[in-house]
Amino acid sequence: MTNIFTPLTLKNGTTIKNRFVKAALSETLGNKQYQPTDELIALYQKWAQGGTGLLITGNVMVDLNARGEFGNIVVDRNQDLTLLKKWSQAATANDTKIFMQLNHPGKQSPKTISKYPVAPSAVPMSGSNAFAFNSPRALEHSEIKQIINKFIEAAAIAKETGFSGVEIHAAHGYLLNQFLSPHDNRRNDEYGGSLENRMRILTEIYTGIRQKVGSEFPIALKINSSDFRPDGFSEKDSLTVIQKMDQLGIDLIEISGGNYENPKMQGIGKGAFFIDYAKKIKQTISTPIIVTGGFNTANGMEKAINNNETDFIGLARPLVMIPDLPNQLKWGNFTSVRLHHLTTGSKKLDKKVGSLIGLSFYQQQMLRIAENKKIQNTTNAWGALLFSLKHQGISALMPQRDKE
Ligand SMILES: Cc1cc2nc3c(=O)[nH]c(=O)nc-3n(C[C@H](O)[C@H](O)[C@H](O)COP(=O)(O)O)c2cc1C
Repeated sequence: MTNIFTPLTLKNGTTIKNRFVKAALSETLGNKQYQPTDELIALYQKWAQGGTGLLITGNVMVDLNARGEFGNIVVDRNQDLTLLKKWSQAATANDTKIFMQLNHPGKQSPKTISKYPVAPSAVPMSGSNAFAFNSPRALEHSEIKQIINKFIEAAAIAKETGFSGVEIHAAHGYLLNQFLSPHDNRRNDEYGGSLENRMRILTEIYTGIRQKVGSEFPIALKINSSDFRPDGFSEKDSLTVIQKMDQLGIDLIEISGGNYENPKMQGIGKGAFFIDYAKKIKQTISTPIIVTGGFNTANGMEKAINNNETDFIGLARPLVMIPDLPNQLKWGNFTSVRLHHLTTGSKKLDKKVGSLIGLSFYQQQMLRIAENKKIQNTTNAWGALLFSLKHQGISALMPQRDKE
């Protein structure tokens, strides 16, 4: 019988040694040249030793001029590739696989980084954090082609530098999600309008990458089950895109949901958020799936695999709190992990910077893992806030995503 430690071989022949996947976490551990630091490499060494079968990197940007956050890694042909090789080497120890997550932020790039952000259409960000983003301009048709090429080139670099695969990030309100969403995409050329047109950038990126890297290099996709807004990318749309990508030959599909305006992907203590949706799509496709978001007990993870509700368990925050969670579970030492609501002690202030703290706290802990320091089990948000201020200066207090 299949269990959480049963290996799984993807369509292209790559075997993942067990069913644990570290979901992408933007580590913000890039240096000033947007290259991996020693700390980033050390962090992946720890995760590889911790027993997870597949590590997905935090989002790596495909364009030097379009970054989403302080500390992003960017892949670019003109840069020295040595550090990327070191990163993949550290992460593939212990028979672990590492996929590079490829992303372009589109308009979800804050003022502190982008003076002139681009998007499918000139639709500004909405919501309480909109003040932190400049209004985007619509991409020219030729610029869309250039972005597609950047994704393809980035995947080729990932392969050359020893990564085991790539994941295309089409979730959480970034550029490809913006194209998929009728709210954000009001184009009337071949990249907008019908769902077939709205997904064209994604299918062209996928087929372009496939052509470049061949059939043996895994390509995964992270996609929302829905944007959870009435005029956004719906569950029905999501199902259609997933089925199309399945037909085209994608190797792995990760299900998440929401965006930073409506961050359904980051609840606390509500169980696996997207499992019902996953069960539904599993019946209609042959591609293995990862469900990410909300897993926090050994029982819940094991049940989801044993009952064939998902093929892989995606874990983000739990693998920060317990980097060797799979090993701990194997040895019978893991039953559950608790994620805390962090607070400054002031409800008013929490409302303003609450979810920013959520991100900063995990970024702070990732650096601590790299530095061999103990994870802090705390509900006090001040440490995380001061950490961000120290590393990013005052701009840390400006939201970097739609809703933080
Ligand atoms: C600090 C932080 C950074 C994140 N960065 C990314 C990212 O770069 N790419 C991505 O697809 N998701 C990112 N996520 C979302 C996670 O991959 C995941 O979908 C979410 O945290 C829910 O999973 P969990 O309940 O296991 O934490 C991030 C989440 C956190 C907390």
